[in-house]
Amino acid sequence: PFRIEDFKRELLEQIRDRVGQRQVVCGVSGGVDSTVLAVLLHEAGVNMRAIYVDHGLMRKDEGDEVRSNFHRMGVPIETVDASGRFLSALAGQTEPEKKREIIGNLFIEEFWRAVGNAELLAQGTLYPDVIESASNSKSKASKIKTHHNRVDKILELQAQGKVLEPLAELFKDEVRALGKSLGIPHDILHRHPFPGPGLAVRCPGEVTLERLEIIRECDAIFIGHLKESGWYDRVWQAYACLVPVRTVGVKGDERSYEWAISLRAVISEDAMTADWVELPYQLLRDTSNDILNGVAGINRVLYDISTKPPASIEWE
Ligand code: XMP
Repeated sequence: PFRIEDFKRELLEQIRDRVGQRQVVCGVSGGVDSTVLAVLLHEAGVNMRAIYVDHGLMRKDEGDEVRSNFHRMGVPIETVDASGRFLSALAGQTEPEKKREIIGNLFIEEFWRAVGNAELLAQGTLYPDVIESASNSKSKASKIKTHHNRVDKILELQAQGKVLEPLAELFKDEVRALGKSLGIPHDILHRHPFPGPGLAVRCPGEVTLERLEIIRECDAIFIGHLKESGWYDRVWQAYACLVPVRTVGVKGDERSYEWAISLRAVISEDAMTADWVELPYQLLRDTSNDILNGVAGINRVLYDISTKPPASIEWE
C-alpha cells in the first residue's frame, strides 16, 4: 500500500538534494497545492521564499486568512499588495478573455518583480496538470478559457532545469494526505477550488470595487450557511456571482432598483463536468434572507440550476 510517511521522507530528501545551497522561490495563493508545496519546502529546511501576490480579487478577508494560516504553520510569506494596480488595469474592461489576459499578465509581472533573480522556482503542479498541459497543444477544448499556469518565463526556466515540481506525481487526494501528514489544518486542505483570476470571473462585465464588495458580502453569507449546515464539505465548489442587471423591487417603503446575485453550488469529479446541488430550501431561504436584509445594492437572489456542459462552473 501507498505509505505517505515514506513518500514524504523520500520527497524531502529529493528536495534537499535538488536545491542544495540555492534559494528556491514559490508563489502561494492560499489554495491546497501551493500551501502543501510551501510547507513541504519549509519542512525540508531549504532556503526558500514564499510569495503571495494579492490581486485584490480575493474573497472576504481571504488575504488576512492566508497570512494568518501561514503564520499559524510557522512558514514565513511575503505579500505583494497589487490590488490597486489590478483594479486600474481592469477599469473599463468587459470582455471575459481580455480580463483574463490582463490579470494573467499583470500577475506574472508582479510575481517576477517580487522574485527578482530566481535560482530555482518551485511549482505546485499536480499529475493531472502535467497530463493536461501535455495535451494542450493538440486539444482545442482546453483552450476554451485561458488558464495561466504555464507561460514563457517558466518554460525558459524549465529548459534551464530550474523548475522544481515536487507534487507532479500526485493526485489531489494524495496531496491532501501529504498535507495532513505535514500538519496542515483540515480547513485549508479541504478548501473549495478557487480560480486564478479570482472574483473577476464572478463579476460579469466591468470589475469595480463596489461590485467586488457586494460579491464578497454575498459570498461570505452563502459560504457561512454552507459551513454551518455541514454542506460545505459535501459540494465541490460554491460561490456567489453578481448579475449586474438592475431590476425593480421594494425595500422598506421605497422602490428599489438594484442588481441580482446568483448563487451556485456544484458537485464534480474533475471540473470537466458538473451538476448543480439540490441544497435544502431552508438553507437557500436563510441565505437569501440574510443577503436581502444585509447587502445594500442587491434586491434579488437567484439559484443557478445549470449543469456543465453546457454552462461552465464559473460565469466567465
Ligand atoms: P469552468 O468555469 O471552466 O471551471 O467550468 C472549471 C474549474 O476550473 C476553475 N477555474 C480556474 N482555475 N485558473 C485556475 O486555477 C483559472 O484561470 C480558472 N478558471 C476556472 C473553476 O473554479 C472550476 O473549479
